[in-house]
Amino acid sequence: MKILVTGGAGFIGSHTVVELLNAGFSPVIIDDLSNSKKSVLQGLKNITGIDLPFYEGDCNDRDLLKKVISAEGIEGVIHFAAYKAVGESVDQPLKYYRNNVGSLVTLLEVLSELKIKNLVFSSSCTVYGQPDIVPVSESTPRKPAESPYGNTKTIGEDILRDTIKSGAALSIISLRYFNPIGAHPSAEIGELPTGVPNNLVPYITQTAIGIRKKLTVFGNDYNTKDGSNVRDFIHVVDLAKAHVSALNLLKKSEAPFYDVFNVGTGTGNSVLEIIETFEKVNDLKLNYEIGPRRSGDVEQIYGNVDKARDIMGWQVEKTLDDSLRDAWAWEKKINNK
Ligand code: WQD
Repeated sequence: MKILVTGGAGFIGSHTVVELLNAGFSPVIIDDLSNSKKSVLQGLKNITGIDLPFYEGDCNDRDLLKKVISAEGIEGVIHFAAYKAVGESVDQPLKYYRNNVGSLVTLLEVLSELKIKNLVFSSSCTVYGQPDIVPVSESTPRKPAESPYGNTKTIGEDILRDTIKSGAALSIISLRYFNPIGAHPSAEIGELPTGVPNNLVPYITQTAIGIRKKLTVFGNDYNTKDGSNVRDFIHVVDLAKAHVSALNLLKKSEAPFYDVFNVGTGTGNSVLEIIETFEKVNDLKLNYEIGPRRSGDVEQIYGNVDKARDIMGWQVEKTLDDSLRDAWAWEKKINNK
């Protein structure tokens, strides 16, 4: 089954391409390379031995989407392509609405025109905002997003729900990611943050390798086990495998079909626990200090992931140690250390 992976040269997209091949699917990548590098394709070839079909382009480009889907005989799509920097989205909301929401609408129009049934949408736990109770399940009420980025995910889910309600001949699954971390164990692909990383783990590995002088922990006065924020940190390979499980469920489904799944470990770990685990697993000391809170941060969130286990037959296989070991191996590899 040929699967179009939009944003397939990105962090989660590239790892999903590997797992699609492992599961017997035939992925085709479209990516505008705005937040990824063409070198990722070489990493994918080093892992899989295959020169993957790659199209450089924007998912707002309707003609390009139609051309690729028709030419490649695409039967399903995994839609990763989106901007994802929370802070940038606050400064440039229209850029985020145009790209993240616009590309989804364009894709849906093309899918119905070409009668393609299966779609997996990259959503986010950010739709839960600051939950009143943790862990959050799929029935936990969504809350107003903390950023335009998060709002594009909420709006994206609403667009999918309304499209299905209109009777579209589509089968769609939204996967709500928590915090993807780590890298492929081969260290051939991993996270490639542009500029100063916003996310915790790449900042940790860049501090450990000497690119950054010191990590700042954004607050330790929260009402959590050690005062620092709690998140659900999931190995990117486990997250990638969830997309294969979602496609297999869609293959068995009758359109119109829509469902939503949390994709996390089901365990909450604090920022300070991540630091301690990183130091232990990699046998090093990290230079960090406690600083002021970062505005917009949620105090704690982690997922109840029973639904993905019970309905998709998916659950994580890797541990936090695996994630932080693989993240460090990748950082060393890209810095030739
Ligand atoms: C995690 C924790 C920070 C950096 C965001 C998006 C989410 C998804 C993942 C895209 C927080 C703390 C971080 C640092 C720190 N985005 N931290 N020092 O904010 O949970 O989620 O990224 O897919 O939708 O909202 O991730 O890694 O930025 O922060 O103390 O230098 O680490 O305060 O508690 P976040 P994050």
